[in-house]
Amino acid sequence: MNMTMNKLSSLRSLIARAVVAATLVTAAGGLAVAAEEGGHGSPKPPREHWSFAGPFGHFDQAQLQRGFQVFKEVCASCHGAHLLAFRNLAQPGGPGFTDAQARVVAEGFQIQDGPNDAGDMFDRPGRLSDRWPSPFPNEQAARASNGGAYPPDFSTLAKARTYEVGFPGFLIDIFTQYQEQGPDYIHALLNGYTTPPEGFNLPEGAHYNAYFPGHAIKMPQPISEGQVTYSDGSPETVEQYSQDVTAFMMWVAEPHLEARKRLGFQVMIFLIVFAGLLYFTKKKVWKSVEH
Ligand code: HEC
Repeated sequence: MNMTMNKLSSLRSLIARAVVAATLVTAAGGLAVAAEEGGHGSPKPPREHWSFAGPFGHFDQAQLQRGFQVFKEVCASCHGAHLLAFRNLAQPGGPGFTDAQARVVAEGFQIQDGPNDAGDMFDRPGRLSDRWPSPFPNEQAARASNGGAYPPDFSTLAKARTYEVGFPGFLIDIFTQYQEQGPDYIHALLNGYTTPPEGFNLPEGAHYNAYFPGHAIKMPQPISEGQVTYSDGSPETVEQYSQDVTAFMMWVAEPHLEARKRLGFQVMIFLIVFAGLLYFTKKKVWKSVEH
């Protein structure tokens, strides 16, 4: 009797050890794969320190202004942002331009309006209520100028891109509330132009990028050292430009991020207070009942 009990318990501990070992091996394997790959055979984009990450995240106004400058002077010649209105540039939670500054930006564009009383379309200077105009009249024209590839609109791009985090990283991200995979990818993409490895067959008109899925991207390296002149003394490097423009793209994609995070925190405080009140109410209601 005792013998069988002993055997059973040793069998049980053996199984338990095997399960623990198997879990550890799988997790380690997952970690190793996740560490080197972000899906599509690309390396995993390094994680950056974004001011807007985490439950108390907020945009860095000066950074958004620099990012806007990069967007306006460089990226906007190919990419549109049709959900961005000029008035947004002066709204709270954004780059914090004044109304007058935003109006100057708007007036720098000619917007097609009409028809007028004679039935003709006409051009007029932009207004605060206008949306950011697309650099091309239509998608076909955009493709024709870019070797057949369409430069995607910036309106939601920072939230529409991500990479595979793999197991168990994605579980850890859920608990640490890490949601900045899109900005990490864009930042890595802008810094990811290198010479193709030997034997890589680069199609005509494409450029090698370590982080782009498939590695052959139709966008030539968009930005280089010293291309944009900053007035606040920030470094004029590709690294700095890509940080700034990515932060700006994140704001365009989620202009109410700060308000959302603030409300989320207030709701958590409310729930904690409410749970306390419920507890004492329950105690009071059930006070005189035997249990
Ligand atoms: C000369 C035109 C041109 C300029 C300037 C340009 N882009 Fe692009 N961009 C493209 C094209 C074309 C594509 C589509 C590439 C493809 O699908 O192969 C693209 C794609 C992208 C993508 C999406 C990549 C993906 O995963 O699909 C991002 C992000 C991007 N550009 C960011 C930028 C930023 C930021 C700037 C400014 C610093 C910029 N681009 C400037 C032409 C341009």
